[in-house]
Order: sequence, then C-alpha cells, then structure tokens
Amino acid sequence: MAITNDFLFYVPIFSSLDEDTIHKISTIGTAKTFKKDSVIFMEEEAGSALFVIISGKVKISRTSSDGREVILSILDESDFFGEMAILDGLTRSANVIAIEDSDVFLIQREQFLNLLHEHPEVSVALLQELTKRLRMADMKIKALSLKDAEGKVATVILQIADDIGKIQRGIVEIEKLPLQQDLANMAGTSRETISRTLHAFAKKGLIELEGSKLRILNYEKFKETFV
Ligand code: CMP
Repeated sequence: MAITNDFLFYVPIFSSLDEDTIHKISTIGTAKTFKKDSVIFMEEEAGSALFVIISGKVKISRTSSDGREVILSILDESDFFGEMAILDGLTRSANVIAIEDSDVFLIQREQFLNLLHEHPEVSVALLQELTKRLRMADMKIKALSLKDAEGKVATVILQIADDIGKIQRGIVEIEKLPLQQDLANMAGTSRETISRTLHAFAKKGLIELEGSKLRILNYEKFKETFV
C-alpha cells in the first residue's frame, strides 16, 4: 500500500489534505490492475465506486445503437472517473476502457461521500475539475455545431493536448495520438478529413507529426486561432 499512499499526495483533488487523512484514504480504498483494452465498466451499469488512476490511461466513450463509438475524453495518472454515478445515484454515463495497462484505486461510494462531507476542500477541488470538464464539453458542442473542418479537428487536438499532452516552453507534445478513426469520431467528421487537416496544419507550421507523436509548436497561438 506504500506506493498508493505516496501516489495519493499527487492527486489534485486530494492535494489539500494532510498526511493523516491521505493515509486514511489509502486504507479505505483498494488498488486494481486492468490490462490494455480491458473494460473497466460499461455505460448503463450500476456504479458503486470512484476510481483514481495510479498509472496508465483510459478512454471515456459512448456507443450508439449501431455500434459506433465516440471518445469523450482520455484520462491518465492522477485523474479520477466514476464520480457521476456516485453523486447522482444513476447508472454509469459512459464506458471506461483501459488503453494502456492501468492501475486504479477504488473508493466505495459511502466512503467517498463521507470524505466529501468531512473535507469540503475535496468537494471544492472536485467541483473545479468538473467545471473544467464542462468547459471542455461546451467547447466541443460549439465546435461540432458552428465550426468548419479545421476548427473541429483543432478543437479535438486541443482537448487531447489538455487530457494527455505535456507542455514545455510553449510546445505541447502528445506522445501517442489516438487512431485517425477515433479522432474522426471525436470531431464529428471523417477519417479522410482528419488526415487532410492534420497534413494542412503541418504544412502551415502549426504542428509537427512524427508517427503517432504530435507536437503543437505554439500552443497559445494555436488556441487563439481556433477556440
Ligand atoms: P460515471 O457516469 O460514474 O461513469 C462514467 C464516467 O466517465 C463518469 O462518471 C465520469 O467520471 C466520466 N465522464 C463522463 N463524461 C465525461 C466527459 N465528457 N469528460 C470526462 N469524463 C467524463
């Protein structure tokens, strides 16, 4: 449990807690490992736990009745998921699938709700993260309904940069870009449009592509241009 204990200090929603409380959380939760491509849970299932990612990456997705998938978000180390069903008591709002071997830390509903009541700082941090997710969802609604192909693709790139990108001196590096078909599903466009638009961005010097690695060369400018 020592690794989990250390890891909990770096989880943003727990960052204001003292050592004793972090230790307490480490004893009320359990760690679990999911292999790459395994389903952590499915949309519409009943939910009784909150999950914090210790290591690895997961995708949050929804599927249509004819089997098409849309990725809503990609989460990685120190991110949480599963709070919605915990808070409103309804079923899971989306599928969560490990896209890398992932270790997660589970806290059962009752214990998580107690934590929110006993430590309002955790509730505020949770609300801040949910606000960020709502802003992102609003940005995507705007892009899907109002923007042209470049705007849609740029919005998806910006979301992935925010989810899993690493920023250094104004350059954002996305180590492993999702497949072009996944990007197309996220952007509400076709795989061909994704390919064409990414190459157009590269030609304009806005991004660099190298295999599945993508770099946004001037993150602030890119954001200003497309948001
Ligand atoms: P829950 O509904 O319990 O299970 C699915 C989880 O996916 C949900 O809680 C959130 O944690 C997460 N989720 C749903 N929609 C989004 C979104 N748009 N962005 C990020 N995470 C989400």
